[in-house]
Amino acid sequence: MCGIVGYIGEKKAAPILLSGLKKLEYRGYDSAGIAVQEKDYIKISKKNGKLNKLQKAVSQEIFKGVSGIGHTRWATHGKPSDINSHPHSSTQGEVVIVHNGIIENFRELKAELLKEGHQFKSATDTEVIAHLIASYYQANDLRTAVNKAVKRLEGSFALAVMSKKEKNRIIAVRKDSPLIVGLGEGQNFLASDIPAYLEYTDEFYILEDGEIADITKNEVNIYSFANQLIANKDKTKIDWDAEMAEKQGYKHFMLKEIYEQPESLKRLLEANLKDGSINLRQNGLNKDWLADYDKIHIVACGTAYHSGALAKYLLEDKLRIPVEVEVASEYRYRKPIVDSSTLMIVVSQSGETADTLAALRLAKKEGADVLALTNSRDSSIARESDMIIYLKAGPEIAVASTKAYTNMVAAFYLLLIDGMKQRSEIKQQTIKKYTSDLIKLPEMIRKLIDNSKAQIKLLAEKYALKDNIFFIGRNTDYTLALEGALKLKEISYIHAEAYPAGELKHGTLALIEKGIPVIALASRSDVFAKLFSNLEEVKARGAETLLITEAKQNFKEESIDHLIELPLLNQDFAGLLAIIPLQLLAYYTALECGEDIDQPRNLAKSVTVE
Ligand code: F6R
Repeated sequence: MCGIVGYIGEKKAAPILLSGLKKLEYRGYDSAGIAVQEKDYIKISKKNGKLNKLQKAVSQEIFKGVSGIGHTRWATHGKPSDINSHPHSSTQGEVVIVHNGIIENFRELKAELLKEGHQFKSATDTEVIAHLIASYYQANDLRTAVNKAVKRLEGSFALAVMSKKEKNRIIAVRKDSPLIVGLGEGQNFLASDIPAYLEYTDEFYILEDGEIADITKNEVNIYSFANQLIANKDKTKIDWDAEMAEKQGYKHFMLKEIYEQPESLKRLLEANLKDGSINLRQNGLNKDWLADYDKIHIVACGTAYHSGALAKYLLEDKLRIPVEVEVASEYRYRKPIVDSSTLMIVVSQSGETADTLAALRLAKKEGADVLALTNSRDSSIARESDMIIYLKAGPEIAVASTKAYTNMVAAFYLLLIDGMKQRSEIKQQTIKKYTSDLIKLPEMIRKLIDNSKAQIKLLAEKYALKDNIFFIGRNTDYTLALEGALKLKEISYIHAEAYPAGELKHGTLALIEKGIPVIALASRSDVFAKLFSNLEEVKARGAETLLITEAKQNFKEESIDHLIELPLLNQDFAGLLAIIPLQLLAYYTALECGEDIDQPRNLAKSVTVE
């Protein structure tokens, strides 16, 4: 949700800012801009549209300065345009800023500043912050001015601020929007996310809410909003390398990330296996955690929510504990029955999703313990949770989540087996079998990708011509249907809906007509017969059916137009096989449609605003 970068050192800033923005483009791609400190002024270049437009504009100008800030935007206040792009500056251009977040009281502040004679060029909330800082700015003390201004802001913000009067100094602020400072020799970096500058440094300060960083090329000092120097702030060392965040010859990050799934899944499993048995103790879960709680709440957004929806079926079935699963934007604005007997599980790839974070805080306030399943070390969600299972998916750059989803589901599988060990009625033999089935998954996924790709490309050619596609399933397969439909619609823009198969005849069946594709997920054998009769119902009404099921399943072939066979596996884990063809189908259909797969319209990777 907008990406911020900053650089201060001895090299020319513009190319370094642009390279950082390229790595953060997944956070927003409506428009982009940079500001570079030149001799006695700050030079700004900003452009509506994708980053390449800015790159072209910058290449036609001369930027000599060695410090600067930059921004890639996902519009909130003010439509995407050159004027509304960041950086924004105050009336005389003395204060220049970039911002990620939303300022809720910007109208009141703007009215006040207008009365004082400030003139505004854009419709953004960000420009108001630049003017507010300028109104407090005196005697070369940018940090004090920023500090005074941020105390008046309501909402979420990460800011990078420069002043033409204080060369080679950047002030950065974090409140409810992520920001990190990359530490180098004679140079320092600023970014919304770590991949931006991994090629320059692996050492970072992760700013906390309410912190202000005062950055020069040789020093980084961090202060609280109460203006106290925070001495001995921990540095974070990152073990990803820059290459992990590159395309490495794949046409799109999404395809690369689909292919990475066997490896990233293996990484997660190995981190949580000891002597062939699941061990979650290092994640903060005690040996008998199940006994500590009466109920589980799983809260997340989008794809992460779908992983939780799947987990509910399995955890309730095997562990016999009530599980509620809800999207975070609903959970946070009602009065859920949550207390110290609740285990709250939040799921988030980015660890920064605003609604999920708010739901976590609500549950903690009511006394719940929070377990996070997150991919992002030191993210807000990781830091505020009591227990953490790191997803270990590696950097996920494509907006449409694939490998993180797989590891979310697998993390729930780990939790399931760990919980099964605490249920005396479940036999050791069953637990061993579940564990060995889980370990088989990475290799099975690898083979499935290779074996199904060609067939899926052909199907994608057909689906790319359709306006509507339905997904149906029962039990965990229904949750896969939800995820398959989301994946397809978000990158191909084809309307896709998921239904519990048994629910179709209560209304949606009316939409089924000749030629409409219906994709039936049937990775579970216990509900196969029921699912299949629903498939026959749609076939009878002219639907073009695709069945995704395990190889040995018996059924009437005439009800099926297309079939994708899955290798045989424990039905509780087969969902992770069934999702693979759906990810590939979404990818190749979007490719057929000629869409911008890694950066779908209107979306951004990390949703740090509500
Ligand atoms: C869809 C997708 C989103 C995210 C959602 C939550 O492909 O990626 O639906 O799953 O925005 O994001 P995180 O997991 O970062 O909290």
